[in-house]
Order: sequence, then C-alpha cells, then structure tokens
Amino acid sequence: MSLRTSSVLIAATLSLSCGAAFASADLAKTKNCVACHAVDKKLVGPAYKDVAAKYANDKEAVARLSKKVREGGSGVWGPVPMPANPQVSADEATTLVKWVLSLK
Ligand code: HEC
Repeated sequence: MSLRTSSVLIAATLSLSCGAAFASADLAKTKNCVACHAVDKKLVGPAYKDVAAKYANDKEAVARLSKKVREGGSGVWGPVPMPANPQVSADEATTLVKWVLSLK
C-alpha cells in the first residue's frame, strides 16, 4: 500500500470515530440534556466527566443509568432530582449513557 493510500485511510478512520462522538453530543443537545449537563463542569446536574469517572468500574452502569435517564431520579449527586426524560427512547438512552461513560 502506498504511503498516500494509508494516510487517506487513517484520515477516513479518524473522521468516522469523531463522527460517532459528535452524533452523540448532538443527540444530547437535541434531547435537551445540555440544559442541565456539561461535559466538564457541573451545571444543574453533574459534569459528564465526573459521571464517567464514578462508574468507570461499574459493569451495570449502562443499564442502570439508561433507565434513570428515562425515569428520572435523585440522591446520587445531591438533593436535586433529574426529571424523567420521556422524549428519550430506550435505545437513545443507551447511546447517550455509553457516550457519557466514554468521556474520561
Ligand atoms: C432538568 C435538569 C436535567 C436534565 C434535562 C437532564 N439531567 Fe441528567 N441529571 C440531573 C441531575 C440533577 C442529576 C443528579 C441526580 C442525582 O443526584 O441522583 C442528573 C444525573 C444524571 C446522570 C447520572 C445519574 C447517576 O445516578 O449517577 C446521567 C448519566 C444523566 N443525568 C444523563 C442525562 C441525560 C443523557 C439527559 C438527557 C436525556 C439528562 N441527564 C437530562 C439533571 C438533569
């Protein structure tokens, strides 16, 4: 393979993986998560980086947090509850939580 072809391939791979992260960030915007959450600072809800750090070794986290995103809940990060987000489907919740947990 020529040097040129391989660098084109690398570029394509890079933009594909960035594309996935970007799509999830976009979904968080569309679903209004960003009204209360930012990646690296606390707003109404915890920073997504803090959430990722907290559950780094928790294998059940994706299932549990996806449910919580849809149904709401409180008491983990403070007294302020996260309201239910019924506009988010189960699949979307899983996508969002996987993205959140990847933000380290
Ligand atoms: C009205 C504000 C608000 C909105 C909108 C909101 N959140 Fe939250 N979120 C919170 C608060 C407050 C907490 C902390 C709850 C707690 O302490 O248990 C939280 C916690 C979380 C957690 C961690 C839960 C835990 O048990 O550790 C995740 C993951 C999360 N939110 C994802 C999302 C996603 C994804 C969306 C968009 C679909 C979203 N949030 C929309 C306020 C919000």
